[in-house]
Formats: sequence, C-alpha cells, structure tokens
Amino acid sequence: MNTAQDNRFQAIISHAKEYGFVFPSSEIYDGLSAVYDYGPYGSELKKNIRDYWWKSMTQMHDNIVGIDAAIFMHPTTWKASGHIDNFSDPMIDNKDSKKRYRVDHLIEEHAAKLKEEGKEDLAENILQEMEMLDAKSDFTGLKKLIDDNKMVCSVSNTTNWTDIRQFNLMFKTEFGAIASDNPEDNIVYLRPETAQGIFVNFLNVQKTARLKIPFGIAQTGKAFRNEIVARQFIFRMREFEQMEMQFFIRPGTQKEWYEHWKAERLKWHLSLGIPAEKYRYHNHTKLAHYADAALDIEYDFPIGFKEVEGIHSRTDFDLSNHQKYSGKKLTYFDTEINQHYIPYVIETSIGLDRMFLLILSHSYDEETITKEDGSKDSRVVMHIPEKIAPIKLAVLPLVKKDGLPDIARDIIKDCRPYFKCFYEEKDAIGRRYRRQDAIGTPYCVTVDHQTKEDNTVTLRHRDSMQQSRIHIKEIKDKLFQSLNL
Ligand code: GAP
Repeated sequence: MNTAQDNRFQAIISHAKEYGFVFPSSEIYDGLSAVYDYGPYGSELKKNIRDYWWKSMTQMHDNIVGIDAAIFMHPTTWKASGHIDNFSDPMIDNKDSKKRYRVDHLIEEHAAKLKEEGKEDLAENILQEMEMLDAKSDFTGLKKLIDDNKMVCSVSNTTNWTDIRQFNLMFKTEFGAIASDNPEDNIVYLRPETAQGIFVNFLNVQKTARLKIPFGIAQTGKAFRNEIVARQFIFRMREFEQMEMQFFIRPGTQKEWYEHWKAERLKWHLSLGIPAEKYRYHNHTKLAHYADAALDIEYDFPIGFKEVEGIHSRTDFDLSNHQKYSGKKLTYFDTEINQHYIPYVIETSIGLDRMFLLILSHSYDEETITKEDGSKDSRVVMHIPEKIAPIKLAVLPLVKKDGLPDIARDIIKDCRPYFKCFYEEKDAIGRRYRRQDAIGTPYCVTVDHQTKEDNTVTLRHRDSMQQSRIHIKEIKDKLFQSLNL
C-alpha cells in the first residue's frame, strides 16, 4: 500500500467512526482486537446490503430458499467438515518480542520491504518459492526460507524465531454443565462458516420445501475465526458475518454451474453500479480441503486488490462426510434419471462486513466544488448506491418557524412507511446538506416559504447537487423511480 492509498484508507476509517458507521468494539475499555460494532448508519447500511443479497437469492429465484441455522452445532459437525483437522494456519513466534505472525504474512511483508528497497527480483523469487512450498505441511521448507533470508520481527528487529506450528482458527467454548471426567466432552465451537448449518439441514429443507435438484439454500449469519493477524479494520475480523448459498446439483454438472455462479455473482456486484474495472477474478491454485475448483472475486480496495467473495466447487465432500460421521443417509433420489446420489455443491460465499468495506471504499469521496460565485469549497460525500443508502430522504424545513416544520413532518409521515427518512431543523441549510452528503443520503427535500403558497419543495440530489422544484405529491414517486424500490 503506498502513502496515498494508506491516507485514503485511514480517512475512510475515521469517517466511518465520526459519522456513526463503525466503532471499535467496547471502545471505552480500549477496544477488542479485530472486533467492531456498527453504529446508527452502519447498521442500516449493513442491513440494506444483507437484504439486497437475500432478495437476489431467495426472491429472484424459484429454486433458492433460505434458512437460519444456529451458531452452535454438534461438535462432530466440525470433525466431518474437516475444520478440526484442516482449518489452521501455520504460525511462528518471535522469541524476543513474543509477537506471533502468520507465516505467509511474514514472508509477504519481507518481500514488500525488499520491493520498496528496489530489490524486485529477490522479492519475486521469495514469493515464488513460498508459492511452490506446501504452506500447510512443509514447515521445514518455510522455516528455511525465513532463516535463509534473515527475515526480522518488526518489533524486536531480531531473527530469533520459534519453529512453525499449526494454529487452529476455531474458537472453543463449553456447553451446558454436564459433569464429565473428560473436559473435551463439553466442548463446542463457534461456527467458522455458516455453510455447515446448510449441509446438515440439506434433507430437512429439500423435503419440506419440496425442492428438486438443482436448488439452492441461502443463509446469512455470524461466523467466528481466531485470526492470527487480524487488522486492516473490518477487512479481517474475528467475529464477522457471511452470506452464503449452497447450490445442490447433479454430479458431473459442476463445471457448468461453477461458470454460471461465477458470472451471476459478478453481475450482482455490478448491479450496484460499481465499475467493472474495480473487480477481477482470482483462480485458486492451492485448493481448500473441500474444493475441486475455486476462485475469488476481488475488489480494488484502498489496500489493493483483495478477496470479497469466494465461489467454490465443493464436490460431495461435505454431504458425504456428514453421511459417514452421522450414519444418516444424505442421498437424493433424482426422478429424472431414476438414480440415488449425493449431490455436488457449488457455493457462493461473501463476507457482509467485507462487502460493507467495499461500499465504503467505493463511496468515499473528498470533492472540491466551484461555487456559483467562482470560489472554491470542499465536501466529503459518500456516493453509496442509492438503493442501499442508510437514509433515502432527508426532509429539512428552511427555518424552524412559520409552520415549515409542520409541513416537513407531514412529508415524513407520508414517506416513512416506504423508505427510511430523516428530519432535521438545526443549523444553516448548507451545513445540513453537508451532513447528509457525509452519510450518503441520496435526496434532500427543503421546505421553504414558497411551499406554503404552492405546495412545492426543493429536491436536491446528493451526487450532482442539482436542485429542482417539485410538488409535494410527486416526492414519493420520484424516489420510487430513482431508487428502483
Ligand atoms: N464457506 C466458505 C468460506 O467460508 P472463505 O473464503 O473462508 O470461504 C468466505 O470465506 C468469505 O467470508 C470471504 O470471501 C470473506 O468475504 C469473508 N471472510 C472470511 N474470513 C473473514 C474475516 N476474518 N473477516 C471478515 N470477513 C471474512
């Protein structure tokens, strides 16, 4: 990340806090690392993104239904899914500073430093070598790479490293108060992905919703990962929310459905009006334990191109393993071909918080404006896609007297059942417009003395700042049309 990108990222983080989008969790106690709370406008925006995704899945497809599974699951779930054995990152500690690093991050940071020093070739060689080593098992090779290149800890500046060890990312807790000689008996995990709640309910859903393959099950909800290096604001969190959809298909058709969902999901992103050049696909060369093909949809964040969503061809790995560990049959009878089989699965998995960061990154703008008299002014404006903006309409009486507040409140009363409105009468009108720009409100209506004469108001658009005079009766329709509600 260069200085300009870093400055922009820091400005977005400050803005998110100052304008009630995101706060550090339990801030009065100095916060909790990589855990965040969403404020008044953040929680609205987050809900709107979630709803937009949910609608695109469960309302726009006859063959996709939703569920809401519990966060706690039977512990054997995680044995069957492979998370107990495989969901870990190699890590290394510096003995002097006691700072813990994810091995790939330590190596990448070292390579980035070399690049800054102009040693591009050496940096590329190190990264290539890391790519070629098996990051999950070749700890000797990775340790040698760190030692040979004299990689230092950023705190102690020494090369005094421990051996590399695996670190499981699942949080454990105790369940119930069952007396047992073996403390392991009471252990449950906080789910690290929502997907398993879908897999274990596969037959319940298929039967009760009378679904035929191909069909999908969608879910949104919290997931938890004890990330070793959790930083970069809400990009990598320890408690976060996922929006996942498992699409169950006939074995042998996975390639075509993988291509289908790859295209569909990018279309969803673009439907929010975000430019296509800000996105790219990244195919995985090293696959997760459950996948036979996988790619990321990456977005050009201020911290560089990074994953926002994953599309995974998960084969029949999860259902087969749940069948094996539970002893319950999880096959489907396909009446078209007269065959029983365990379905294959294409998964689309997007982080809600990461999508939220994407929207902040796309929207944040520091604009210089030329006023009518030629003088310069500036504003911070959030160009949040209108249909997911936290507030859709602010209604502002020009002054707090002469009956203007009453008219403004009547407008709010009329519009509020249909979209989120905001009323404000304090401060000069220009300052009120700026505050709405800063939280991304697409429309402001100003009630003035002329309103009393002819029932018209001024409608101001956030992005163009253009104003037009419309009749009070037209406000609702104008917003319906423009927001595509
Ligand atoms: N069920 C598949 C799965 O969980 P993943 O690639 O590990 O796949 C899917 O996660 C998405 O969840 C990611 O693309 C990202 O948007 C989000 N995500 C994963 N870990 C996260 C974290 N620590 N903080 C915020 N979002 C995260």
